[in-house]
Amino acid sequence: MIKQVIFGDPFETDAVVKPVEQANKLTYWNVEDTAEKLIFRCKLSEKDIVYGLGEQVKGINKRGGRYISYNTDNPNHNDDSPSLYGSHNFIVVSGQQHFGAFFDTPGRIVWDIDAEGSGEIVITTDKNVKVVELEGDSAYAVTRDFLSIIGQSFIPPLWAFGFGQSRWGYKCRRDIDNVVEGYRTNGIPLDWVCMDIDYMDRFIDFTVNSKRFPELKAYAAALKEKGVRLVPIIDAGVKIEPGNATYDEGIAKGYFCTNHEGTPFKAAVWPGMTHFPDFFQPDCRQWFGNEYRKLTELGIEGFWNDMNEPAIFYSEYTGILNALTPAPSTELEKESNAYKDYRNFYHNVNGQRVLHEKVHNLYGALMTRAASEQLDKLLPNRFLLFSRASYIGAHRYGGIWTGDNGSDWDHLARNVRMMPSLNMCGFLYSGADTGGFGGNCSRELLLRWLAFSCFTPLMRNHTAILTRRQECYRYSGKEDFQSVVSLRYKLLPYIYSEFVKAAITSDMYIKPLGFEYFDDRSLSVQDQLLVGESIMVAPVIEKGAKGRTVWLPEEMTEVRYDGNGFVCETVPKGERKIKVALNEVVFYIRKGKCVPVCKGAQCTDELDMSDVVLIGDGKEYRCYIDDGITKEISENNIVTLRKR
Ligand code: NOJ
Repeated sequence: MIKQVIFGDPFETDAVVKPVEQANKLTYWNVEDTAEKLIFRCKLSEKDIVYGLGEQVKGINKRGGRYISYNTDNPNHNDDSPSLYGSHNFIVVSGQQHFGAFFDTPGRIVWDIDAEGSGEIVITTDKNVKVVELEGDSAYAVTRDFLSIIGQSFIPPLWAFGFGQSRWGYKCRRDIDNVVEGYRTNGIPLDWVCMDIDYMDRFIDFTVNSKRFPELKAYAAALKEKGVRLVPIIDAGVKIEPGNATYDEGIAKGYFCTNHEGTPFKAAVWPGMTHFPDFFQPDCRQWFGNEYRKLTELGIEGFWNDMNEPAIFYSEYTGILNALTPAPSTELEKESNAYKDYRNFYHNVNGQRVLHEKVHNLYGALMTRAASEQLDKLLPNRFLLFSRASYIGAHRYGGIWTGDNGSDWDHLARNVRMMPSLNMCGFLYSGADTGGFGGNCSRELLLRWLAFSCFTPLMRNHTAILTRRQECYRYSGKEDFQSVVSLRYKLLPYIYSEFVKAAITSDMYIKPLGFEYFDDRSLSVQDQLLVGESIMVAPVIEKGAKGRTVWLPEEMTEVRYDGNGFVCETVPKGERKIKVALNEVVFYIRKGKCVPVCKGAQCTDELDMSDVVLIGDGKEYRCYIDDGITKEISENNIVTLRKR
């Protein structure tokens, strides 16, 4: 069953792209209509699990938490933080019955998911919301139905599945040369390097600082020869700078968000005072997306979109106010401080002025759409694009990274728990800042994090300015890093195939264990995941641990990789204690399944994906093989490989 009930006059988010039957009453929810809000309530049974919410804190099971959908820049988040960078309003209740609900509104939503043990879910939205209700035989079936109505995931080129290195603070060509050389001379694979805001002229979008990055076109081409792509950042705010072509055109055409007086709204971000493009206007999206041409003409094939919640340091209204307000001490106070700005600017939606606050969660998603639709026209092949802020629907246009995190073990654990929820909401191409953004990453943490990121589609090491150098070759014992990162490349035939197959069949790439195994232990495990159809991962996420306890819901093949080869052993169902050295990755292949592994390479351009060996006890594998860049994705590219 899939149906939708419309309350009030909801804003069209374009999240759902397939027709859904209209109904006038929800099956699982009681609705209370108050003067200002709608309150949806649903009683939970004792054993019900609540999955979903995409980029959110706490467990794979969201029960026992209070969450707020309101895209927020919070680099210091922890499990008590109510909001992160994206808002993904889809949940599935799974127990005796299995049903899902998508609350489709770009405004703020408060989710009380049995936070205080009342046995109830209470969801508070504004008066205008479309609720899509789904029902099926399992949490997985409900999720797949949801994925089928929100449209196919963005599919980046193969090189975007290679390893990326990033750091806020690469200031010039030499910094990037050092990174490339550091990886190549130490034999650690690398496919792309990010250019953070320092490549720009004074942090102005679509400019290049030609003193620090002279002849970027020739430079990008030379790096590509070495199998390395440059991936520059683009920020949401456009610097107020008469004479700058982007700024001048935005002003002339009325493409910027406006303030109470109807003139362009001013807010400070990295370049100083900026205006925000009004991505709600189709013409503005086309214009802004087309500006990426200034970089695609230089040979750039990948971008990351940042600060697009939008993040605001201070604004023309709240600047002084914020400066005079004592630093907020609670999460709620922090929220309300940041939110003041969102009541001070407007979008032009088909000629109507719409207050930003009401449609806030869609802003970053529309920036992704702006970039993606034009990049598709500007580039002959597939491109890489990932964003910080997002809303369901943006998964069709680009991937996401999970925003600023920290170099600590809690953030690694959170990354593990978040991945299946993101996949439930369509965001297949996703991953965290491996090693952590804020703080200094220890060798142990980086190796353990890399061992997990080997399985996430986006595998990027990124860190903040002024933190410890976090490139793999900066740490002692380069062999350990060679070992872990090389696994990624040996697994690429599998990772790429599983990703593309999931995208074209409305499936998840990473799933909770409880989506396929229904014993109590599998339903409750928070630190083991299914990756594609064959693999189960059980990453080591504890400081100082020499290994871990793994739950095997059935007999599986245990695969141990230490940089030299794959050692496979059939291991029985049940609990198992394993040792995992820092240079090793241990993963599991499900019964009757197999995984294609290739020889690996220093970059995807050199990878021979057709020369694979199948490991595991299955007999055959359906492998997706193409040139890694062509836009046409077809089931005809799936070949069945059989064990010899
Ligand atoms: C915030 C982003 O989240 C981070 O990844 C980036 O390095 C900084 N902005 C600087 O651009």
